[in-house]
Amino acid sequence: MEHQHILILDFGGQYNQLIARRVRECNVYCEVKPYNKVTIDEIERLAPSGIIFTGGPNSVYGEAAPSVDRRIFELGIPVLGICYGSQLMAHMLGGKVANCVTSEYGKTETCYDRSCALFGAVEDMPEKAVSWMSHTDYISEVPEGFKIVAHSAGCPVAAMANEERKLYAVQFHPEVNHTQYGLGMLDSFLKNVCGCKGDWTMENYAETAIRQIREKVGNGKVLLALSGGVDSSVLAALLSKAVGRQLTCIFVDHGFMRKNEGDEVEAAFKDWDINFVRVNAKDRFMDKLRGVSDPETKRKTIGEEFIRVFESEAKKLGKVDFLAQGTIYPDVIESGSGDAAVIKSHHNVGGLPDYVDFKEIIEPLRMLFKDETRKLGQELGLSETLVWRQPFPGPGLAIRIIGEITDEKLEILKDADWIFREEIAKAGLDRSIHQYFAVLTDMRSVGVMGDFRTYDYTLALRGVTTTDFMTADFARIPYEVLETCSSRIVNEVKNINRVVYDITTKPPATIEWE
Ligand code: XMP
Repeated sequence: MEHQHILILDFGGQYNQLIARRVRECNVYCEVKPYNKVTIDEIERLAPSGIIFTGGPNSVYGEAAPSVDRRIFELGIPVLGICYGSQLMAHMLGGKVANCVTSEYGKTETCYDRSCALFGAVEDMPEKAVSWMSHTDYISEVPEGFKIVAHSAGCPVAAMANEERKLYAVQFHPEVNHTQYGLGMLDSFLKNVCGCKGDWTMENYAETAIRQIREKVGNGKVLLALSGGVDSSVLAALLSKAVGRQLTCIFVDHGFMRKNEGDEVEAAFKDWDINFVRVNAKDRFMDKLRGVSDPETKRKTIGEEFIRVFESEAKKLGKVDFLAQGTIYPDVIESGSGDAAVIKSHHNVGGLPDYVDFKEIIEPLRMLFKDETRKLGQELGLSETLVWRQPFPGPGLAIRIIGEITDEKLEILKDADWIFREEIAKAGLDRSIHQYFAVLTDMRSVGVMGDFRTYDYTLALRGVTTTDFMTADFARIPYEVLETCSSRIVNEVKNINRVVYDITTKPPATIEWE
């Protein structure tokens, strides 16, 4: 590995990805690995500059509690344990962990010992600040050689350290925004304890990635399914810089893009030094979806048809050497605690085409988070509209029309969604609301227009703010903006006589309606 890096051992905590993102925000490269998928010999060979143990749902005394080889503490590599990770460190090194009388959850006033390397160098950090706690066990006695470096009313050991051995543990979650100075604490661990330089930047990454792609691809042909979303667009840009016309991008337009979006994607890539193929396949998709109203069946049908269309186009190219995929890091990280329940079957490229003749898959964005992918796109000169495009589900508007999809409903939704987007942009909210869109419900209700009774569809507007799309809050869009949207939509779009705004958070709702 060329860069200094941090190894994050995942014990199944809900914030495992967030820890990795924060480390990268400090310009330090890191990788997340399930605690039971990496041996002590491998860790020695990888020689990370530091190790972080994540939180997790277990108790150290539980049956089959996740653990690590105790030699990990003897490698001379700094370790930071977070939440479960802190308890595990205490337990393994001879301290004591006990059950809280009442679980501690949420923002907690915490007192810090600023002589500790984790806290001392954090700019303007006071001795008392708020940390984010979420635990039912706590460290009741620190192991020999450790000292207590933070405490709160309910937690006698909010942090402990053995500075000589470079072992640190925090009960709270420094990676969560609610922990004041949390990012600074992580930065201190990375730079002051682990000695990382902080030289992981997208400029460096682009250079290295282009070189590596050239070495790997040689004179070979590369095929990419381009959706126009951020990931596949950035990948197209990277590949075009690396191998130019050896790249063919196939853009399957399934007809469920937002208004004008298919043409925008084509316009964005048409003049590039690549081979660009657009397939207008709306009729094929609509045929397959006739009579389908179940969300999962819709998703699967679209995913499968996508592959078939892509395949038949790809076949025309004859043998390709590499199939490029825009997989990014959040897709790669697996939780150490086993498989999460499938809430919705996600699809982008929808799996692998069976009949495309290719030698190998390449995934050059595999190690990047979304924000890094965006930065890389900017670095490569992609337009702001492409780089900042909000996430859009692979099945597109098809899953924003509740019930069976018809041409008429699709047009209604496209027009209404367009007005919503226009008004949000006019109000200058398009960057602060992370995702916003319209949903056409299959509910109709009575209204009155002029002197006439109407019986038309209800349109739902959804706007969310989120950092990770795994949890989300509904966006507090000013009433005046909602009012303009509602009045424009009922006046300008046929067959809608009622507009509602979705005020549910995720969980318990999801962001999309299907
Ligand atoms: P949910 O509805 O699960 O959505 O809360 C979370 C985020 O994922 C997006 N989404 C998808 N993205 N393919 C994708 O690439 C899909 O099939 C898909 N379905 C949902 C959704 O828009 C939100 O940003």
